[in-house]
Amino acid sequence: MEKFYATTAIDYVNGAPHIGHAYEKILTDVIVRHFSQRTDNAYMLTGTDEHGIKIQKTSAKINMNPKEFCDTNAQKFIDCWKLLDINYSQFIRTTDDYHKLTVQNIFKKLTEKGDIYKNSYTGLYCSGCEAFLAEKDLDEDGCCPVHKKKPEQISEENYFFKLTKYKDAILKHIKQNPDFIVPAFRANEVINQLENIEDISVSRAITSVNWGIKVLDDPSQVIYVWIDALSNYITALGYDINNPSEKFKTYWPADVQVIGKDILKFHSIYWLAILMALELPLPKHILAHGWITIDEAKMSKSLGNVVSPENVLKAYNLESPDAFRYYMATAAPVGRDGNYSDEDFKEKVNAHLANSMGNLLNRTLSMLVKYFDGEIKSEFIKESPLFSEAINTIKEVKHHFDYFEIQEASLKINELVDKANKFVTDNAPWTLAKEGKMEECGTVLYTILEIMCVISSLIYPYCPNIAKSMAKQLKYDINTKLDDIKINNIKTGKLTSKEEITPVFLRIDSELADKKK
Ligand code: ME8
Ligand code: MG
Repeated sequence: MEKFYATTAIDYVNGAPHIGHAYEKILTDVIVRHFSQRTDNAYMLTGTDEHGIKIQKTSAKINMNPKEFCDTNAQKFIDCWKLLDINYSQFIRTTDDYHKLTVQNIFKKLTEKGDIYKNSYTGLYCSGCEAFLAEKDLDEDGCCPVHKKKPEQISEENYFFKLTKYKDAILKHIKQNPDFIVPAFRANEVINQLENIEDISVSRAITSVNWGIKVLDDPSQVIYVWIDALSNYITALGYDINNPSEKFKTYWPADVQVIGKDILKFHSIYWLAILMALELPLPKHILAHGWITIDEAKMSKSLGNVVSPENVLKAYNLESPDAFRYYMATAAPVGRDGNYSDEDFKEKVNAHLANSMGNLLNRTLSMLVKYFDGEIKSEFIKESPLFSEAINTIKEVKHHFDYFEIQEASLKINELVDKANKFVTDNAPWTLAKEGKMEECGTVLYTILEIMCVISSLIYPYCPNIAKSMAKQLKYDINTKLDDIKINNIKTGKLTSKEEITPVFLRIDSELADKKK
């Protein structure tokens, strides 16, 4: 694998990030961290989507200049991703100058090509969706079904993009590439939406929206959200209509573009059409993730159940985001909805990260100190059937990640942890020690420690801090590429001492609370 380029949706900056936004960034970060274990050239793009009527209105309401408003809120996203150890390579803001300039050039190129034309338009506009809605999309009360608000009747001259010109090519692409839309069951939805596709309005009169990128040769028009927002995936890399940068040539097309299911239509139809019009290669996969609910209810400001990632970390006094990352990344099978609940969070991370995984390492290292003063003796080193299981788990995890099955991959890691735990129970090294079978006892401990090296690599994308702490105690190089992992990481000689052993994850509520006291 030569390179891996992944993008996330860019978030609207009307408010602060919530755990739905966090879910997507964590998923993408886990994917990119996994692929960084398979290539030296993994790149992750995220950012914020800052133009449009909503920002214009919200900032006006509080008498704030829209750019300052965006600055303040974009910073909340940047801070939050830092807190969650989202290791993005680049953060793009659609108010960045380089982005605005390229969007103008893209618009100009599409106009010159004849793919953008001017037309007068009357339609029902929902500012919540930042989209025109058809009568048939409205609910019984004539409201937007998502925002429960009556759309505004808007009549003005707009530029239109010839989406219909690309309809057949898009249909063909989706049908010929059944793995293009992940999960595959969503492809039919897109195919149905394609049936009724029309040309789309891609600009607004500056008299109705002024917070946006101006059309180069027609300052009475502002480029309306989707051409602006979607182009970020290429402008970030330095795409230029005449002279694409080296970075663009290296990374485009994206290997995966991660988005929520609500914006799949824009990414699998509009975005493909724009790329086709620009004669650019298409992304390899669009991953449409599901919705995160809170206690099985939709998160919304009106319900007052919006959960912020910061609050979760604070509530549990978590020193690193690993537990939250792990919980979110494994919240649902790829593409399905997931749920957050406090009880489930505690139970799951305590069970998986503390009781099964963390405790296994801690117990094993402690026994090594107790019986052997922390030393690995050469006679301990023996083959074990567990080793081929571990190598096989690496293969299975890679396979799942090839299909972006993040939760499924984590289940394979858990299985390996369970097998290692069973191996300890079955072989009872404490009994072996009591019976004076020291070599056998040492071999059991050595075997587990080798397995723990593999586990630290596999858990790294989800829990980078825990993984590093495990690797440090094992004197294992956490930067080992997955394909280079061999079962020979535990060397003879002194491995550890009582002082060096630290729990990698403290149980939420009990141990953690005790420690704070
Ligand atoms: O749609 N659960 O921005 P956005 C899971 N700017 N994912 C969720 C979620 C939830 N409860 N709520 C939101 C936009 N998301 C546009 C994107 S891309 C060129 C432009 C996801 O702030 C949502 O599905 O409304 C989307 O992928 C992302 O968060 C940003 O949503
Ligand atoms: Mg949204």
